[in-house]
Amino acid sequence: MRITDLDTPAVLVDVDVMERNLRRLGDYCAEHSLRLRPHTKTHKIPELARRQIEHGAAGITVAKLGEAEVMADAGLPGILIVYPLFGAAKWRRLTALARRTDVTVACDSVEIASGISAQARQDGVTVGLLVEFDTGFGRCGLPIDEFSLPAARRIRELPGLEWRGVLVYPGHIMGTASEREVLLNRENETLSRLMELLKSEGIDCLIVSGGNTPAAFLSHRFVGVNEIRPGTYIFNDKNTVCAEAASWGDCAVTVLATVVSTSVYGKAIIDAGGKTFSGDSLLSGDRQGFGHVIGHPEILVEDLSEEHGHLRLGGSRLKVGDRVRVVPNHVCTCVNMHDRVYGVQREDVVAEWEVAGRGKVR
Ligand SMILES: Cc1ncc(COP(=O)(O)O)c(C=O)c1O
Repeated sequence: MRITDLDTPAVLVDVDVMERNLRRLGDYCAEHSLRLRPHTKTHKIPELARRQIEHGAAGITVAKLGEAEVMADAGLPGILIVYPLFGAAKWRRLTALARRTDVTVACDSVEIASGISAQARQDGVTVGLLVEFDTGFGRCGLPIDEFSLPAARRIRELPGLEWRGVLVYPGHIMGTASEREVLLNRENETLSRLMELLKSEGIDCLIVSGGNTPAAFLSHRFVGVNEIRPGTYIFNDKNTVCAEAASWGDCAVTVLATVVSTSVYGKAIIDAGGKTFSGDSLLSGDRQGFGHVIGHPEILVEDLSEEHGHLRLGGSRLKVGDRVRVVPNHVCTCVNMHDRVYGVQREDVVAEWEVAGRGKVR
């Protein structure tokens, strides 16, 4: 099948670009002896998680328990759930998962760790555990000070849990390449403090898990970090390019869309709106627009209605029936809008993958 045979809108994955992205990070991690546990929330596709393992990943990361179940069903190893799982229903599912595969969870409270511990004891299984600390993103994670250590100590001693170390998420290390250098220095002061505190308490860590895509190739310079969890790197997106962490040629995913109206002067409407792209705004660069139209830097994707993408043409000409390919702002939420995506090589469609983990929000 050729790309021209596909109906639109459709999410295309350039397989050669994806493979190059996977190889590049796999080689980098091997060179710096970093364990790679990519975050699969970017694609939620077991076949692509398998490719990540084949490119050297030691395991995978997911956000939700439902995603972990999908990946375990497909035989993916070493699953890390980096999300605080609360409630008896989830703890029962977690121990059922732990019975059939090696699973690690991250949490930042004695309440959650105790719940998992009690369920694990009852069900006679062991669940791996990482305690999350906050290095500045301000979402989850214990504060890095001596007052957090009693909680970490209590969690470490709970039965039914295997203490594996600590986890941080440097989601605040964004901006441009030079801004990231400054942020990295600040992050290292924070990480050094965390390492000192843990050492002074005799808390040893097999795993210190960190990493994101904008800082992926700086990972070897983060103090103490020995495992990384970038997700977006497999595809990249407009956010990654505007953060100077990839080029347009490194973006594997494009949305193929058709021009369906040109009635408004200076504009064209494509059949891909917020329900195709997700509508996430740009978090880096000039923060303008909702995507990058390949081969048309003069076109601005200026707005998204639910099913209409508004292109401001900037002098170029498009007619009804023309097709464009658009790099989304945020590829993870874009792919999550779709049941399936298509692997392409040049003009050929070479694969079709089900986004098996989409909708698994529990
Ligand atoms: C906890 C955690 N780890 C890793 C990642 C991967 O980061 P990136 O999307 O920059 O690759 C994310 C992204 O949201 C995350 O929330």
